[in-house]
Amino acid sequence: MEHEIKTLIPEEEVEKKIVELAERISRDYEGKTIHVVGILRGAVFFMTELCKHVTVPVKCDFIRASSYGSGSVSSGDVKVLRQMDETLEGQDVLIVEDILDTGYTLTKLKDIFMSEKPASLKIAVLLDKTERRKVPIEADYCGFVVPDKFIVGYGLDYDQQYRNLPYIGEIKDV
Ligand code: IMP
Ligand code: MG
Repeated sequence: MEHEIKTLIPEEEVEKKIVELAERISRDYEGKTIHVVGILRGAVFFMTELCKHVTVPVKCDFIRASSYGSGSVSSGDVKVLRQMDETLEGQDVLIVEDILDTGYTLTKLKDIFMSEKPASLKIAVLLDKTERRKVPIEADYCGFVVPDKFIVGYGLDYDQQYRNLPYIGEIKDV
């Protein structure tokens, strides 16, 4: 099914912002190796673009988390499926996520990861729907604050569609 999608942030702006975030991250982690953990599937587009511009050593790992069935309302019931084979103990861990919405997903992951005693744990998100927060959690690195609309593109989907749009858009009538 085709939907009307309004561009919120054009491709060039998204990419420029990701480069800026990568530069900040590279400065902050100077002399360290970053253990990046991307949250599948939405974070993949942001994560690869970000890591390409980070100048300190990076290791890439993934975890699967989902809280949205096929609809557009967060259930708060976050499912986590771990695929990492390395412990996080002593690592400088950077969780990379597409969007911080209610905050349930990242709060749960943060709790799980902290129990493994990483040397440090930070969060990078491409987007932040600040108004929708249900639990108090902030990202250390954030690309853009977006309005409370249903967002697609650059990894974000609606029913698994539109992840591959190279820009950030708002999907209408869902
Ligand atoms: P949270 O647990 O509510 O913070 O949800 C975060 C997850 O919900 C993200 O990883 C996204 O997969 C999904 N999500 C939240 N808002 C949107 C949206 O506007 N479009 C697509 N996915 C979204
Ligand atoms: Mg997600």
